[in-house]
Amino acid sequence: MVAAVRVHKVGGPEVLTYEDISVQAPGPGQLRVKQHAIGVNFVDVYFRIGLYPPPGGLPFVVGNEAAGEVVDIGPGVSEFKRGDRVAYVQGPGCYAAERLVPADRAVKLPDKISYEQAAGMMLKGLTVQYLVRRTFKVEEGTIVLMHAAAGGVGLILCQWAKHLGANVIGTIGSKDKAELARANGCDHTILYRDEDFVARVKEITGGKLCDVVYDGIGKATFPASLDCIRPRGLFVSFGSASGPISAFDINMLQQRGSLFATRPTLNTYAAKRADLLAMAEDLFAVVGSGAVKIPVNQRYPLKDAAKAHRDLEGRHTTGSSILIP
Ligand SMILES: NC(=O)c1ccc[n+]([C@@H]2O[C@H](COP(=O)([O-])OP(=O)(O)OC[C@H]3O[C@@H](n4cnc5c(N)ncnc54)[C@H](OP(=O)(O)O)[C@@H]3O)[C@@H](O)[C@H]2O)c1
Repeated sequence: MVAAVRVHKVGGPEVLTYEDISVQAPGPGQLRVKQHAIGVNFVDVYFRIGLYPPPGGLPFVVGNEAAGEVVDIGPGVSEFKRGDRVAYVQGPGCYAAERLVPADRAVKLPDKISYEQAAGMMLKGLTVQYLVRRTFKVEEGTIVLMHAAAGGVGLILCQWAKHLGANVIGTIGSKDKAELARANGCDHTILYRDEDFVARVKEITGGKLCDVVYDGIGKATFPASLDCIRPRGLFVSFGSASGPISAFDINMLQQRGSLFATRPTLNTYAAKRADLLAMAEDLFAVVGSGAVKIPVNQRYPLKDAAKAHRDLEGRHTTGSSILIP
């Protein structure tokens, strides 16, 4: 038996139940991994509250990102051996001391990436990889607006976009977070709880507006985010921290200057193993060189997963949060 955090009935953080579960021997194509660090993500909240249904139904082990050591290997696995250090985005199922992982979803960790860094960046960093390199090719001079710039995805995206030469504008919920965002690649910060962020974007860009807006907030920042985009620019709605965006009239894109809009997810971009490996290599390169740092700013014992969720939803966290089994 191993310690895990399960949900038996969807709801608030209190439904996260710390208990023992059994883990079977790995089947064909599977690895058994002893997890050293587990990432906490907003998507874990979406599963916990029932916004995303767990594929295997209730109860389910929460969590979508972790890193650890291979302790057993199922039939047909040749790419990994016992003792390999691995990380993965594979969920739900990560809030546990040990788990089974499909080998074709795991990536070997370079020596210079720690388990904690890996757990703080596999889901968030691979997301940033596709957002700045694939969904929109950020380059020298690109004007980027990133909402929740001091969050888990936010701090990584701001650093990476800056590294690519972008002019980065970030929104944040407090003055402390603004300071952190500026230390991590933001050229300009906007306190969007107090300031009109559309007016500030117009002022900062001298009316040019942004080439791309990355919006993981959803309901609370829509449709104002569209007003920050230059004609034929791109709106990337990649999350719903404040709740999902309701159905909207597509003519809103025409009225603001033939805008493009997309609602991407990492699952699609990393669906093929070759893409997963190429994206991970790119992520490990920018982290390994020091161009992008992974700020793991909150650590909790696994049994305190409910506190980790309260802090994340309460907007009390910055950077990445991890659970230690
Ligand atoms: N599509 C994908 O592939 C993908 C992958 C990973 C993550 N995501 C999305 O990326 C976003 C960020 O994820 P994360 O795990 O890194 O979280 P996070 O940014 O660390 O935390 C969410 C942040 O959103 C801001 N926020 C604004 N309104 C909020 C509200 N009503 N409730 C809670 N937070 C609110 C808060 O920052 P301030 O206090 O600064 O406002 C909060 O710290 C989420 O929407 C997530 O679903 C999408």
